[in-house]
Amino acid sequence: MSIRFIEKDKVFKLDSKDISYIIAIVDEEQFVGHVYFGKKILDENVNYLLRIDEPPYVPSKNNRDRVSFYDSFPMEYSTHGIGDFRESCLQVRDSKGHTACKLQYISHEIFKGKKELKGLPATFGDENECTTLEITCLDKDLNLEVVLVYTPFENLDVITRSVRVKNCAKDSITLTKVLSTCVDFDGINYDMISLHGSWARERHISRKKISYGKQAVSSNRGESSHQDNPIIALLDNNATDESGNVYGFNFVYSGNFFTQIEGCQFDTTRVVMGINPEDFAWVLEEGQEFITPEVVMVYSNEGIGKMTRTFHDLYRNNLIRGKYKDKKRPILINNWEATYFDFNTEKLISIAKEASSLGIEMLVMDDGWFGKRNADNSSLGDWVVNEEKIQGGLKNLVDEVNKLGMEFGIWFEPEMISANSDLFREHQDWCIHIEGREPALCREQYVLDLSRQEVVDYIYESVKKVLSSANITYVKWDMNRQLTDLGSMNITPERHGELFHRYMLAVYEMMNRLTTDFPDLLLENCSGGGARFDAGMLYYCPQIWCSDDTDAHERTFIQYGTSFFYPISAVGSHVSAVPNHQTGRITSLETRGTVAMAGSFGYELDLNQLDQNEKEKVAEQVKAYKEYQELIYGGKYYRLSNPKKDDLAAWEFISEDCSKILVQGVAFRAASNVLRHRIKLLGVDATAIYRFVKGRQKEEKLSGKALMTGGILIPAIKGDDVAFEFYLEKIEEC
Ligand code: DGJ
Repeated sequence: MSIRFIEKDKVFKLDSKDISYIIAIVDEEQFVGHVYFGKKILDENVNYLLRIDEPPYVPSKNNRDRVSFYDSFPMEYSTHGIGDFRESCLQVRDSKGHTACKLQYISHEIFKGKKELKGLPATFGDENECTTLEITCLDKDLNLEVVLVYTPFENLDVITRSVRVKNCAKDSITLTKVLSTCVDFDGINYDMISLHGSWARERHISRKKISYGKQAVSSNRGESSHQDNPIIALLDNNATDESGNVYGFNFVYSGNFFTQIEGCQFDTTRVVMGINPEDFAWVLEEGQEFITPEVVMVYSNEGIGKMTRTFHDLYRNNLIRGKYKDKKRPILINNWEATYFDFNTEKLISIAKEASSLGIEMLVMDDGWFGKRNADNSSLGDWVVNEEKIQGGLKNLVDEVNKLGMEFGIWFEPEMISANSDLFREHQDWCIHIEGREPALCREQYVLDLSRQEVVDYIYESVKKVLSSANITYVKWDMNRQLTDLGSMNITPERHGELFHRYMLAVYEMMNRLTTDFPDLLLENCSGGGARFDAGMLYYCPQIWCSDDTDAHERTFIQYGTSFFYPISAVGSHVSAVPNHQTGRITSLETRGTVAMAGSFGYELDLNQLDQNEKEKVAEQVKAYKEYQELIYGGKYYRLSNPKKDDLAAWEFISEDCSKILVQGVAFRAASNVLRHRIKLLGVDATAIYRFVKGRQKEEKLSGKALMTGGILIPAIKGDDVAFEFYLEKIEEC
């Protein structure tokens, strides 16, 4: 059992593979305090870690000054209004308007496995994989019950946390802030990593030294967003990819989030994470309960790289679900950048014919097949096939594509309604808006009010009807605007603060219905590129379109940042035409192929425009990807460079048993009279001999030790953005 309650000390010891997390019930008052999170502690006796004799940590010894206690004690779940002036996790407004809350331990339960979080995405694990601790606390004055839920995973350095809050009083109470985790760390000398960006420039790494005071990362856009991502890492100032202490926090949620790192007065650092309290207020009537989304916490004492591989393992095995969890996904061709809105059956078939002859496995028909949609200014909500474009109907098109030996996928944007649509003309009040105020347009569309069940049902049924009409095996679920003008016809004034979260719950409900009704469907998430590249979406969608920026050079930065927390198999990545539509940059087909292969691979260009030589290259790439796919999806991932510093991007996939290694990368700039780049491999079996199958003279052999210490020289570069690739196999032990 990886959770122990040490009765005599009133201590909970949670152990994962190499980590421990320790909680203590402190004092006669039974406060639930945080003791430790880090490298595994083998001793049973952890008393030495507690500050049991040190006022103000023990309030009964310092009753004169309660506030000092509250303001310094490392609470497992900090509450507002009683004297802890650091960032709180829980804030309420009771029927008299008061906001204070104080939690004390009541009971606990330990059980094998992990419960689902009703209506929410969350990691899962069976009885052999994890154990769960639930600590029930109570505010006696409010009669508010708070259950702190912890799940350490047996074979991974992971602990997940979530919280349930139940109103046990007669009067209603409003939760104005209810976060999912709080951890107080000793010391203030840390760096913080977050992912930052914009549309077509998502998830660039931001690393900075933290300081006293608060530094927040958040979204209030109704989606996890292009701009920020619901992750952070807290790490030693000198931690690298291969060394140092790193704590990763990832929120399993796709809507508004808030994470705060606070450097506090006694040189401690508090990290909190959860739903953004801005514009949030949730009313609990007597007996009602609120469940927070989950936070995944990972610890690595071997740098950022090990944290990355832990997140990848957890998400591949214990978050992503369905048929495609362990199955190779089809190599696809998407028509968006090939045609935009200007396509018809004939055009799509001509792309599919060429694609199938080159080994591509699926055609995805993107935006523009429905209503009267010939530009981005109409028809969202009118999910009826446009037979002027799709002559002969959808079934005919899908059948033709199937006859070519390819699967068929389709694009939807189910959460939206165009101002110019039949649906809007019929139901103007179905969009999120404030009565009497003109809502702001974005891409000429509004957001549907998914807090209304009739809206959800209508949209879901129209999507379902299309999917049931033909052999469609993939859906690209897009979402192209942020939420503004929050208002709903369905919600009473005191509940308006619930709208953002109700919206997310409805999106999850629709995705759940879709994957239940169509269990073989591959659902790909997209939000104007990667505005919802988050762990919440991964629960429903095994892959996510990474960014609308398909330029191979810029993609190396986006994919580098994404790789810190999210598995490579989830990264939707396509080869597009040059000059690139977003940047105008011209890169070779080899470079575009190499970069796109570090993800769920596909093409997004008109193959008919390629010459014979290029088509042959595409066929070679498709063949190579099929050979590497297992390694790319399931292998351990190592970053071999920092593209922002090193003038090259290089990465490595290595199989679990270290027998197969794929190294890929791009050297950015040509320069005259310079030495070649050298890259040192990581995670290789030092005691083995490897043979180069690709990238160097065949049969050239090097020891694992040599690959890691001396490294390999990449070929001399002629030109900018030149790709390289090495494939090696282990042949013998040294
Ligand atoms: C945004 C997506 O990211 C693109 O790939 C494409 O599907 C367009 N929307 C279609 O409108």
